[in-house]
Amino acid sequence: MEEKKTIFSGIQPSGELTLGSYLGAIKNWVALADEYNCFYCMVDMHAITVRQTPAELRRRTLEQLAQYIASGLDPDKCTLFIQSHVPQHAELGWILDCYTMFGELSRMTQFKDKSAKNADNINAGLFTYPSLMAADILLYQTDLVPVGSDQKQHVELTRDIATRFNGIYGDVFTIPEPYIPKIGARIMSLTNPENKMSKSDKDNGGCIYIMQQPEEIMRCFKRAVTDSDTAVRYDAENKKGISNLMSIYSVATGRGFDEIEREFDGRGYGDFKAAVGEAVVELLRPIREEAERILKDKSYLEGVYKAGAEKAAAVACRTLRKVHKKIGFVPR
Ligand code: TRP
Repeated sequence: MEEKKTIFSGIQPSGELTLGSYLGAIKNWVALADEYNCFYCMVDMHAITVRQTPAELRRRTLEQLAQYIASGLDPDKCTLFIQSHVPQHAELGWILDCYTMFGELSRMTQFKDKSAKNADNINAGLFTYPSLMAADILLYQTDLVPVGSDQKQHVELTRDIATRFNGIYGDVFTIPEPYIPKIGARIMSLTNPENKMSKSDKDNGGCIYIMQQPEEIMRCFKRAVTDSDTAVRYDAENKKGISNLMSIYSVATGRGFDEIEREFDGRGYGDFKAAVGEAVVELLRPIREEAERILKDKSYLEGVYKAGAEKAAAVACRTLRKVHKKIGFVPR
């Protein structure tokens, strides 16, 4: 039997998980868990490149884990862990810093964006963020990295770093490929459908959270931006708001665009927005309820992340030992 390929992905616990995180990432992770050897990580070390409130970071990390499990990620089938619990990430991160060029890091668009947004805290970690991400990926000899299109550049840099390292020392790292899902990859903001749905839309109702209450979800959908036309019709160029709502409705219900157009033919936007809201409420309800239940069981959660860290560390140690040997560190 052919050995399963390895997948690694992670989400920063720097904000609440959104409908976009679920449809664009976690739902796909669940679908991949049978076929691949999967590592899914809560990247708290990346999160601190932007200042966090300690109690919030801790709460969100555990909530994120509960939401992973509630979404269908089975901790017995895939490895779920917290990045800071596996110190090999920091260790390999440092080593890879020494094989990553200043110029390469300077060109990263996420660094440029985040520096503009956090002008008073352009710290070294924000700059070397991509080499820590490369360490995350390379420690597990990852074949595929499911990410949103905004992370493609980081995976490309990871490939460059790994290729450079292998070029000097022989085959140490598997060269990973980005894996960018087609559907659901880009769920846009409900209030500003030009932009990806993100935590920064929190205040204006453009963003839906997995843990949000049904009434609030309905309120956000009723206020979603549409256009001055009246037809529910897919047109990603000229009808961005409606097309985004159609994509959401489509992934939530499994219906195609043609079918949705027929369903709402002659029925106005009000009806349509309420239907999308209800579909999302029902999609998220079981996940939220299960996550709330899991969160109350602290010892279960602790068992999951401890076992996850142990499984991850066993693999990570193997790679790190190989790296140490290649670069000339005296064995411990
Ligand atoms: N940079 C990713 C993001 O912001 C999170 C991340 C960190 C990640 N390490 C990773 C994603 C490794 C995939 C693989 O979305």
